Parts: sequence; C-alpha cells; structure tokens
Amino acid sequence: MQQLIARDYRELSRLAADRVSAVVAEKPAAVLGLATGSTPIGLYAELVARSRAGELDLRQVTTFNLDEYLGLPRTHPASYWQFMQAHLFRHVPVRAERIHLPRGDAPDPEAECRAYEAAIAAAGGIDLQVLGIGGNGHIGFNEPGAPFDSVTRVVDLTAETRAANARFFARPDEVPRQAISMGIRTIMQARRILLLASGEGKAAAVAAALTGPVTTAVPASVLQRHPDVTVIMDAAAAGLLPAAAGSGR
Ligand code: GLP
Repeated sequence: MQQLIARDYRELSRLAADRVSAVVAEKPAAVLGLATGSTPIGLYAELVARSRAGELDLRQVTTFNLDEYLGLPRTHPASYWQFMQAHLFRHVPVRAERIHLPRGDAPDPEAECRAYEAAIAAAGGIDLQVLGIGGNGHIGFNEPGAPFDSVTRVVDLTAETRAANARFFARPDEVPRQAISMGIRTIMQARRILLLASGEGKAAAVAAALTGPVTTAVPASVLQRHPDVTVIMDAAAAGLLPAAAGSGR
C-alpha cells in the first residue's frame, strides 16, 4: 500500500488526477470506478480541467459508480446521478452509454443489483476504483459489518451516515434509509484502488483502516489485503497515523 500525504486539498486532488490520468494514458478504454461525496470533487475538477486542456482523453472510458440512494430517481437533486453530472459528466466527453450508476428507482432493486454486477463483469472489470471513506470507515455504502464477500446489493444506512449526508438534502428526514452499493468483494476485485481522505474528521477512520486489524467493523481495513492500493490524504486526515506511516512517499 502506497501512502501519500498531500500539503493540502488542492495537491491531494492533483495527485489523484495524476493517478487517474496515468491509468487512462496506459489504457484509453479503461474502466473507472468512481465515488461521490465531497472528497473527490477536487479530483473531478482537475479531470475536467485536464480534459478541456486536451491533456486527458476520456472519450473511450467506461465508468461505474459505487452507489446510489435507494428510491431516488435520477432527477432528484441529491441523487448521485445528479452529483456526477454536475461535477464530471456534463463537462467531459465520456459517452452516455458508458456511464453506469445503479438506478435508485429501479422497479426491482435486487434485479438491478445483479445487472450491475453483470455489467461490471461484461466491461472486463474495474481498472481503477476511486474511494472516499466514511467517518465510520465505510467504503461505498458498505457500513461496518458488511461482509467481505458482499457484492452489489441493497444496504441499510447507519444513522451516522445519514446525518453526515443530510447536508445534501432539504431536510434531514429526506435522507434515504437504504442505498444500492457495490459490495466489498466488488471493490476488492478492482485491479487498482485509489483511496482519498481529507480533513480531521477522517483521521480516526484512516488510522483504523490502514494500521488497525483487518475487520468488518472497519470496512476500509479490507484494503490492507489488496495488492495495489494508493492512499492519498491531507495532513489532517493522516493526523492519527503513526509518524512513520506517511513515509512511503
Ligand atoms: C458517502 C458515499 C461514500 C463517501 C462518503 C464520504 O457515504 N457513499 O462513497 O466516501 O460519503 O463522503 P465525503 O467525501 O463527503 O466525506
């Protein structure tokens, strides 16, 4: 596991964009796994800037997002579909038919989950999966306790996660109680993983994930078992790591 500590959020975003750009340069038809949340917003802004500058060609990539709120149609302003449109897809030439997010309003959510897994497999698997991390160590919407062999499925959200995401909704009680999320196994099958963490609110989760025991109680700790993980964090998110842990720069 490679750990990089960025000076600030700007540098974190640039370093993350360097990773994504390198994967796409090596394989123009790369399959990218993408994340939502505040953390990757700077990464997406960098990708948009590089695409506009002609430095990054996203015309052949395929994307799969980690998750979507159950029950939200793509038109809902707090849907992850809208988030991805606003921060990335509206501004770059990724082909519409190669953009994948689970449909929150699928009439048969279980069938939607199965189809999502099948679509990832049909695309040849994910080359690079971008991840944020929840304050409780969740990845995607795999909350503490999520089995390591889980695949895309309907999951319950914890009160903590609903509260953390309430800022995107008009009222806290509008935050859905469930989501469709890639599973831990789905994530672990990605050939490379890029975990981003920013701010002191993530410090405890980062320390537990990177240096604690591998346990379902801290979903991100499973990443210790993946052969190709890069963690890019700012100093605040790295604040509870043992001093030597940031030295793999
Ligand atoms: C949500 C998303 C996660 C994300 C997490 C952290 O729960 N499902 O994929 O990593 O939020 O979000 P933020 O980056 O805003 O802290």
